[in-house]
Amino acid sequence: LNLGILYGGQSTEHEVSMRSAESVLGALDRKKYTIHLIYISKQGEWLLADQSERIEAVVDKENGHRLSILPSQQFVSEGGMHHFDAILPILHGTAGEDGIVQGVLEMVGVPYAGCNVRSSAVCMDKDMTKRLLKLEGINVADWMVFRHEDRDQVDYSAVKAELGLPMFIKPVNQGSSVGVSKVTDEQSFHEAIALAFEFDTKVMVESAVQGREIEVSVLGNTDLTVSVPGEIVANTDFYSYESKYIDESGAALEIPARLEQPVAEKIRQTAYDVYRALDCEGMARVDVFLAEDGAVIVNEVNTLPGFTSISMYPKLLEASGISYPELLDRLVELAVE
Ligand code: DAL
Ligand code: MG
Repeated sequence: LNLGILYGGQSTEHEVSMRSAESVLGALDRKKYTIHLIYISKQGEWLLADQSERIEAVVDKENGHRLSILPSQQFVSEGGMHHFDAILPILHGTAGEDGIVQGVLEMVGVPYAGCNVRSSAVCMDKDMTKRLLKLEGINVADWMVFRHEDRDQVDYSAVKAELGLPMFIKPVNQGSSVGVSKVTDEQSFHEAIALAFEFDTKVMVESAVQGREIEVSVLGNTDLTVSVPGEIVANTDFYSYESKYIDESGAALEIPARLEQPVAEKIRQTAYDVYRALDCEGMARVDVFLAEDGAVIVNEVNTLPGFTSISMYPKLLEASGISYPELLDRLVELAVE
Protein backbone atom coordinates (compact mmCIF):
# COMPACT_ATOMS: atom_id res chain seq x y z
CA LEU A 1 0.00 0.00 0.00
CA ASN A 2 1.37 3.37 -1.03
CA LEU A 3 1.06 5.49 2.06
CA GLY A 4 1.79 9.21 2.14
CA ILE A 5 2.66 10.88 5.43
CA LEU A 6 1.95 14.59 5.47
CA TYR A 7 3.90 16.52 8.07
CA GLY A 8 5.33 19.92 8.95
CA GLY A 9 2.71 22.47 7.99
CA GLN A 10 2.14 26.20 8.19
CA SER A 11 0.85 26.45 11.74
CA THR A 12 2.53 27.39 15.00
CA GLU A 13 2.54 23.63 15.72
CA HIS A 14 5.00 22.81 12.88
CA GLU A 15 7.59 21.47 15.32
CA VAL A 16 5.02 19.41 17.17
CA SER A 17 4.03 17.84 13.85
CA MET A 18 7.67 16.98 13.08
CA ARG A 19 7.85 15.10 16.38
CA SER A 20 4.55 13.34 15.84
CA ALA A 21 5.59 12.29 12.32
CA GLU A 22 8.92 10.98 13.58
CA SER A 23 7.14 8.57 15.91
CA VAL A 24 4.64 7.53 13.26
CA LEU A 25 7.39 6.80 10.74
CA GLY A 26 9.26 4.73 13.28
CA ALA A 27 6.23 2.56 14.03
CA LEU A 28 4.82 1.88 10.54
CA ASP A 29 5.32 -1.65 9.29
CA ARG A 30 7.52 -1.43 6.18
CA LYS A 31 6.29 -4.81 5.01
CA LYS A 32 2.78 -3.41 4.74
CA TYR A 33 3.48 0.07 3.46
CA THR A 34 5.59 1.79 0.88
CA ILE A 35 6.06 5.12 2.60
CA HIS A 36 6.19 8.51 0.90
CA LEU A 37 7.08 11.49 3.03
CA ILE A 38 5.38 14.73 2.07
CA TYR A 39 6.70 17.75 3.89
CA ILE A 40 4.68 20.96 4.03
CA SER A 41 6.97 23.92 4.60
CA LYS A 42 6.08 26.85 6.83
CA GLN A 43 5.45 28.77 3.61
CA GLY A 44 2.99 26.13 2.48
CA GLU A 45 4.92 24.33 -0.28
CA TRP A 46 4.29 20.60 -0.55
CA LEU A 47 7.54 18.71 -1.08
CA LEU A 48 7.91 15.01 -1.71
CA ALA A 49 11.06 13.74 -0.03
CA ASP A 50 13.52 11.62 -1.99
CA GLN A 51 14.12 9.45 1.05
CA SER A 52 11.51 7.88 3.27
CA GLU A 53 13.80 6.89 6.11
CA ARG A 54 13.88 10.07 8.09
CA ILE A 55 11.53 12.91 8.98
CA GLU A 56 13.21 16.19 8.17
CA ALA A 57 12.48 19.54 6.68
CA VAL A 58 12.72 18.95 2.94
CA VAL A 59 14.58 21.62 1.05
CA ASP A 60 13.41 21.89 -2.52
CA LYS A 61 15.70 20.36 -5.16
CA GLU A 62 18.25 19.16 -2.62
CA ASN A 63 16.30 16.35 -1.11
CA GLY A 64 12.83 16.55 -2.54
CA HIS A 65 10.50 17.63 -5.29
CA ARG A 66 7.79 20.25 -5.25
CA LEU A 67 4.42 18.53 -5.40
CA SER A 68 1.34 19.83 -7.19
CA ILE A 69 -2.11 18.34 -7.28
CA LEU A 70 -4.33 17.34 -10.13
CA PRO A 71 -7.94 16.97 -9.04
CA SER A 72 -8.05 13.45 -10.44
CA GLN A 73 -6.44 11.12 -7.92
CA GLN A 74 -2.96 12.24 -8.82
CA PHE A 75 -0.14 14.25 -7.49
CA VAL A 76 2.54 15.42 -9.85
CA SER A 77 6.14 16.57 -9.41
CA GLU A 78 9.02 17.08 -11.79
CA GLY A 79 9.84 13.46 -10.94
CA GLY A 80 6.54 12.34 -12.53
CA MET A 81 3.06 11.33 -11.41
CA HIS A 82 2.49 9.98 -7.91
CA HIS A 83 -0.32 7.85 -6.66
CA PHE A 84 -1.03 7.31 -2.98
CA ASP A 85 -3.55 4.76 -1.74
CA ALA A 86 -4.00 6.68 1.51
CA ILE A 87 -2.60 9.67 3.33
CA LEU A 88 -1.89 10.04 7.03
CA PRO A 89 -2.10 13.76 7.79
CA ILE A 90 0.18 14.16 10.79
CA LEU A 91 -0.33 17.90 10.95
CA HIS A 92 -1.57 20.05 13.78
CA GLY A 93 -3.37 23.37 13.77
CA THR A 94 -4.13 25.83 11.00
CA ALA A 95 -4.09 24.51 7.41
CA GLY A 96 -3.65 20.95 8.62
CA GLU A 97 -6.13 20.13 11.33
CA ASP A 98 -8.81 22.62 10.32
CA GLY A 99 -10.23 21.07 7.15
CA ILE A 100 -8.09 22.91 4.63
CA VAL A 101 -5.74 20.03 3.87
CA GLN A 102 -8.66 17.61 4.16
CA GLY A 103 -10.40 19.65 1.42
CA VAL A 104 -7.34 19.42 -0.83
CA LEU A 105 -7.23 15.66 -0.32
CA GLU A 106 -10.95 15.41 -1.12
CA MET A 107 -10.29 17.29 -4.36
CA VAL A 108 -7.51 14.89 -5.30
CA GLY A 109 -9.69 11.97 -4.27
CA VAL A 110 -7.17 10.32 -1.96
CA PRO A 111 -8.47 8.61 1.19
CA TYR A 112 -7.02 10.18 4.33
CA ALA A 113 -7.00 9.30 8.00
CA GLY A 114 -9.02 11.28 10.48
CA CYS A 115 -11.89 13.71 10.44
CA ASN A 116 -13.64 15.01 7.33
CA VAL A 117 -13.57 18.62 6.21
CA ARG A 118 -16.59 19.74 8.21
CA SER A 119 -15.75 18.17 11.56
CA SER A 120 -12.12 19.24 11.24
CA ALA A 121 -13.19 22.83 10.64
CA VAL A 122 -15.73 22.87 13.45
CA CYS A 123 -13.39 21.29 16.02
CA MET A 124 -10.58 23.70 15.18
CA ASP A 125 -12.83 26.60 16.13
CA LYS A 126 -13.29 26.39 19.89
CA ASP A 127 -16.20 28.84 19.81
CA MET A 128 -18.09 26.92 17.13
CA THR A 129 -17.42 23.65 18.97
CA LYS A 130 -18.83 25.00 22.21
CA ARG A 131 -21.91 26.45 20.56
CA LEU A 132 -22.76 23.11 18.94
CA LEU A 133 -22.10 21.13 22.11
CA LYS A 134 -24.26 23.50 24.12
CA LEU A 135 -27.11 22.92 21.66
CA GLU A 136 -26.72 19.19 22.31
CA GLY A 137 -27.02 19.76 26.06
CA ILE A 138 -23.36 18.91 26.67
CA ASN A 139 -21.70 20.99 29.40
CA VAL A 140 -19.08 23.55 28.42
CA ALA A 141 -17.47 26.32 30.50
CA ASP A 142 -19.01 29.80 30.11
CA TRP A 143 -17.25 31.93 27.55
CA MET A 144 -17.30 35.16 25.57
CA VAL A 145 -15.84 35.86 22.14
CA PHE A 146 -14.29 39.05 20.82
CA ARG A 147 -13.43 39.88 17.25
CA HIS A 148 -10.37 41.81 16.22
CA GLU A 149 -12.34 44.86 15.12
CA ASP A 150 -13.86 45.11 18.63
CA ARG A 151 -10.62 44.62 20.55
CA ASP A 152 -10.62 48.16 21.92
CA GLN A 153 -14.04 47.64 23.46
CA VAL A 154 -13.07 44.61 25.54
CA ASP A 155 -14.04 45.69 29.05
CA TYR A 156 -12.33 43.88 31.93
CA SER A 157 -15.00 44.64 34.56
CA ALA A 158 -17.84 43.47 32.33
CA VAL A 159 -16.02 40.25 31.40
CA LYS A 160 -15.09 39.59 35.02
CA ALA A 161 -18.68 40.15 36.14
CA GLU A 162 -19.83 37.62 33.55
CA LEU A 163 -17.15 34.93 33.90
CA GLY A 164 -15.48 35.40 37.30
CA LEU A 165 -11.81 34.81 38.09
CA PRO A 166 -9.53 33.20 37.14
CA MET A 167 -10.19 33.12 33.44
CA PHE A 168 -8.49 31.73 30.38
CA ILE A 169 -7.82 33.82 27.31
CA LYS A 170 -7.34 31.88 24.08
CA PRO A 171 -7.08 32.46 20.37
CA VAL A 172 -10.18 30.67 19.04
CA ASN A 173 -8.28 28.67 16.39
CA GLN A 174 -5.00 27.41 17.83
CA GLY A 175 -3.57 24.28 19.37
CA SER A 176 -0.97 23.24 21.91
CA SER A 177 -1.94 26.20 24.14
CA VAL A 178 -0.13 28.66 21.87
CA GLY A 179 -1.25 32.18 22.80
CA VAL A 180 -3.21 30.93 25.83
CA SER A 181 -3.00 32.69 29.20
CA LYS A 182 -4.61 32.26 32.60
CA VAL A 183 -5.36 35.61 34.18
CA THR A 184 -6.44 36.91 37.56
CA ASP A 185 -6.12 40.67 37.25
CA GLU A 186 -6.78 43.56 34.92
CA GLN A 187 -3.26 44.16 33.69
CA SER A 188 -2.57 40.55 32.79
CA PHE A 189 -6.04 40.42 31.21
CA HIS A 190 -5.20 43.16 28.71
CA GLU A 191 -1.78 41.66 27.97
CA ALA A 192 -3.36 38.27 27.42
CA ILE A 193 -5.99 39.68 25.05
CA ALA A 194 -3.27 41.40 23.01
CA LEU A 195 -1.21 38.20 22.92
CA ALA A 196 -4.15 36.08 21.79
CA PHE A 197 -4.95 38.54 18.98
CA GLU A 198 -1.44 37.96 17.62
CA PHE A 199 -2.59 34.46 16.69
CA ASP A 200 -6.19 34.88 15.57
CA THR A 201 -8.84 37.39 14.62
CA LYS A 202 -11.22 35.82 17.16
CA VAL A 203 -10.31 35.57 20.82
CA MET A 204 -12.25 33.90 23.58
CA VAL A 205 -12.36 34.39 27.31
CA GLU A 206 -13.44 31.37 29.31
CA SER A 207 -14.17 30.93 32.96
CA ALA A 208 -11.66 28.53 34.52
CA VAL A 209 -13.17 25.29 35.76
CA GLN A 210 -11.91 24.19 39.18
CA GLY A 211 -11.26 20.52 38.81
CA ARG A 212 -9.21 17.84 37.07
CA GLU A 213 -8.12 17.75 33.42
CA ILE A 214 -9.10 14.46 31.78
CA GLU A 215 -8.69 13.31 28.16
CA VAL A 216 -10.25 10.44 26.20
CA SER A 217 -9.21 8.98 22.84
CA VAL A 218 -11.90 7.97 20.38
CA LEU A 219 -11.16 5.85 17.31
CA GLY A 220 -13.52 4.77 14.55
CA ASN A 221 -16.07 5.75 11.93
CA THR A 222 -19.23 3.92 12.97
CA ASP A 223 -18.17 1.40 15.61
CA LEU A 224 -16.28 3.51 18.06
CA THR A 225 -13.47 2.53 20.39
CA VAL A 226 -13.51 4.85 23.39
CA SER A 227 -10.36 4.61 25.49
CA VAL A 228 -9.93 4.66 29.23
CA PRO A 229 -9.70 8.25 30.49
CA GLY A 230 -6.26 9.71 31.24
CA GLU A 231 -5.41 12.63 33.47
CA ILE A 232 -3.08 15.57 32.96
CA VAL A 233 -1.38 16.33 36.23
CA ALA A 234 0.12 19.75 35.58
CA ASN A 235 2.79 21.04 37.94
CA THR A 236 2.57 24.48 36.41
CA ASP A 237 -0.26 26.98 36.62
CA PHE A 238 -1.89 25.35 33.58
CA TYR A 239 -1.06 22.85 30.82
CA SER A 240 0.91 25.28 28.66
CA TYR A 241 2.98 24.78 25.47
CA GLU A 242 6.05 24.76 27.69
CA SER A 243 4.70 22.01 29.96
CA LYS A 244 3.50 20.04 26.93
CA TYR A 245 6.73 19.97 24.95
CA ILE A 246 9.65 21.75 26.58
CA ASP A 247 9.81 21.25 30.32
CA GLU A 248 8.94 17.60 30.71
CA SER A 249 8.56 17.92 34.46
CA GLY A 250 5.78 20.45 33.76
CA ALA A 251 3.08 17.82 33.48
CA ALA A 252 2.63 14.11 33.98
CA LEU A 253 0.11 11.80 32.36
CA GLU A 254 -1.79 9.47 34.64
CA ILE A 255 -3.04 6.54 32.56
CA PRO A 256 -5.62 5.43 33.32
CA ALA A 257 -6.86 8.33 35.42
CA ARG A 258 -7.66 7.36 39.01
CA LEU A 259 -11.43 7.58 38.91
CA GLU A 260 -14.34 5.69 40.38
CA GLN A 261 -15.81 3.38 37.74
CA PRO A 262 -19.12 5.30 37.33
CA VAL A 263 -17.22 8.57 36.92
CA ALA A 264 -14.90 7.04 34.31
CA GLU A 265 -17.95 5.71 32.46
CA LYS A 266 -19.68 9.08 32.54
CA ILE A 267 -16.58 10.71 31.04
CA ARG A 268 -16.27 8.02 28.34
CA GLN A 269 -19.95 8.43 27.48
CA THR A 270 -19.45 12.19 27.19
CA ALA A 271 -16.51 11.65 24.82
CA TYR A 272 -18.67 9.33 22.73
CA ASP A 273 -21.52 11.86 22.62
CA VAL A 274 -19.16 14.70 21.67
CA TYR A 275 -17.59 12.68 18.84
CA ARG A 276 -21.03 11.85 17.48
CA ALA A 277 -22.43 15.36 17.93
CA LEU A 278 -19.57 16.85 15.92
CA ASP A 279 -19.64 14.15 13.24
CA CYS A 280 -16.05 13.10 13.83
CA GLU A 281 -14.49 10.31 11.78
CA GLY A 282 -11.33 8.28 12.19
CA MET A 283 -10.03 9.78 15.39
CA ALA A 284 -10.23 12.58 17.91
CA ARG A 285 -9.12 13.26 21.45
CA VAL A 286 -11.82 14.76 23.63
CA ASP A 287 -10.53 16.93 26.49
CA VAL A 288 -12.77 17.54 29.49
CA PHE A 289 -12.69 18.86 33.01
CA LEU A 290 -14.04 16.87 35.89
CA ALA A 291 -15.33 19.69 38.06
CA GLU A 292 -15.14 19.53 41.85
CA ASP A 293 -18.92 19.01 42.00
CA GLY A 294 -18.64 15.98 39.67
CA ALA A 295 -19.86 17.69 36.48
CA VAL A 296 -18.13 16.70 33.24
CA ILE A 297 -17.39 19.87 31.30
CA VAL A 298 -16.01 19.58 27.77
CA ASN A 299 -12.99 21.73 27.05
CA GLU A 300 -12.20 20.97 23.43
CA VAL A 301 -11.80 18.36 20.71
CA ASN A 302 -8.53 17.70 18.87
CA THR A 303 -9.01 16.01 15.52
CA LEU A 304 -5.27 15.52 14.92
CA PRO A 305 -4.03 15.10 18.46
CA GLY A 306 -0.36 14.96 19.41
CA PHE A 307 0.96 11.71 18.00
CA THR A 308 4.36 10.96 19.45
CA SER A 309 4.62 7.51 20.97
CA ILE A 310 4.40 9.13 24.41
CA SER A 311 1.46 11.40 23.57
CA MET A 312 -1.86 11.03 25.33
CA TYR A 313 -3.86 9.92 22.25
CA PRO A 314 -1.87 6.75 21.43
CA LYS A 315 -1.05 6.07 25.09
CA LEU A 316 -4.72 5.94 26.05
CA LEU A 317 -5.49 3.52 23.24
CA GLU A 318 -2.50 1.42 24.21
CA ALA A 319 -3.91 1.22 27.74
CA SER A 320 -7.16 0.11 26.12
CA GLY A 321 -5.50 -2.73 24.19
CA ILE A 322 -4.51 -1.11 20.88
CA SER A 323 -0.75 -0.82 20.39
CA TYR A 324 0.78 2.15 18.57
CA PRO A 325 1.53 0.20 15.33
CA GLU A 326 -1.96 -1.35 15.44
CA LEU A 327 -3.46 2.11 15.86
CA LEU A 328 -1.71 3.29 12.69
CA ASP A 329 -3.01 0.24 10.80
CA ARG A 330 -6.52 0.95 12.07
CA LEU A 331 -6.35 4.60 10.97
CA VAL A 332 -5.30 3.57 7.47
CA GLU A 333 -8.07 0.95 7.34
CA LEU A 334 -10.62 3.50 8.52
CA ALA A 335 -9.42 5.92 5.83
CA VAL A 336 -9.89 3.49 2.97
CA GLU A 337 -13.03 1.65 4.18
N1 DAL B 1 -2.77 20.29 19.48
C1 DAL B 1 -1.96 19.26 20.08
C2 DAL B 1 -1.10 18.59 19.08
C3 DAL B 1 -2.81 18.28 20.81
O1 DAL B 1 -3.95 18.55 20.97
O2 DAL B 1 -2.31 17.24 21.19
MG1 MG C 1 -5.66 21.34 21.41
